Amino acid sequence: MKDYKVAVVAGDGIGPEIMAEAKKVLDAAGEVFDFKIEYKDELIGGIAYDNTGTPLPDKTVQTAKEADAVMLGAVGDWKYDTLPPEVRPERALLGIRKALGLFANLRPAIVWDELVSSSPLKPENVSGVDIMIIRELTGDVYFGEPKGVEVRLDKDGNGTRYGFNNMIYSEDEVRRIARIAFETAMVRNKKLCSVDKANVLDVSRLWREVILEVAADYPEVELSHMYVDNAAMQLIRAPKQFDTIVTGNIFGDILSDEASMLSGSLGLLPSASLGEDAKTALYEPIHGSAPDLRGKDVVNPIATILSAGMMLKYSFKMDEAYNLIEKSIKDVLKDGFRTADIMSEGKELIGTRKMGDLIKEKLLKAK
Ligand code: IPM
Ligand code: MG
Repeated sequence: MKDYKVAVVAGDGIGPEIMAEAKKVLDAAGEVFDFKIEYKDELIGGIAYDNTGTPLPDKTVQTAKEADAVMLGAVGDWKYDTLPPEVRPERALLGIRKALGLFANLRPAIVWDELVSSSPLKPENVSGVDIMIIRELTGDVYFGEPKGVEVRLDKDGNGTRYGFNNMIYSEDEVRRIARIAFETAMVRNKKLCSVDKANVLDVSRLWREVILEVAADYPEVELSHMYVDNAAMQLIRAPKQFDTIVTGNIFGDILSDEASMLSGSLGLLPSASLGEDAKTALYEPIHGSAPDLRGKDVVNPIATILSAGMMLKYSFKMDEAYNLIEKSIKDVLKDGFRTADIMSEGKELIGTRKMGDLIKEKLLKAK
């Protein structure tokens, strides 16, 4: 039997409860596919700040580095909104991505037939959507220097506050995410759309140049470029035109939340964050910590369960296990069970734990 060590950072808000469901499903997959996961729980986010004075303790980073993979729930709570920026929970999320060198964030947005009716968009527009958004994760305006809020004096000596960040990419940073994007497009439908704002931003001009350079090595991939404002519009107007999308950190953050609405809920989108070295990877739902819903057993654990599935696929090369998890989820949906976020008429409303239990049961039946 194969053994894996997985660092688990459940974080804040609904993090712990969605993570519990993911572990449940992973353990069931272990029974079916004969592997065992040893979980090492560590603190991250607000809870880490409360307990240790920092949102990203060294011990957490250490455990994450030593593990075969990392699973993350969510971070953040309004009660930390007044903390100085360097100890806010979100800082821990950016910090762990940076510390592990996770520059490639894969965010699949797939509309399953079972959920077409959950989408606020017309069924004929969203049915069959299968998009892979590849978001650069360790550069851009998120990390660029200089940044800050400061008082600057005008010529009369009057102070005015300025807030600023730097949208910056080096060619190497663009090249490595471009490679992942082209490689991903090659194993999908060989169609890649690079999203930028090259009509206005210099940083995007470089982005586009480098994408074009890398494209020379992938003549089979049909490459297109789209400005981010147009992409935001096209994602709603005609999402089926997209297969693989590659974009920078901030555009990817925004477009992936938008894309989640094609499938009807933020509670459905998983993600994988990969680094240079195949050993380090982190899996997390794209949604946040929803502190108002914490402990109520109402949120959808599917994004986190799918993220765990992506871990089996990308880190442990168990495609079959991923497929079975996906199938089990679809079967539960086919049976008519829904959490509140994807509820529609005639379906049966269930909670977080029940959703996890049902998916687990489906999986075990395959044994
Ligand atoms: C995400 C989140 C994070 C981000 C926040 C919480 C820092 O929105 O993972 O998409 O902006 O990357
Ligand atoms: Mg986001």
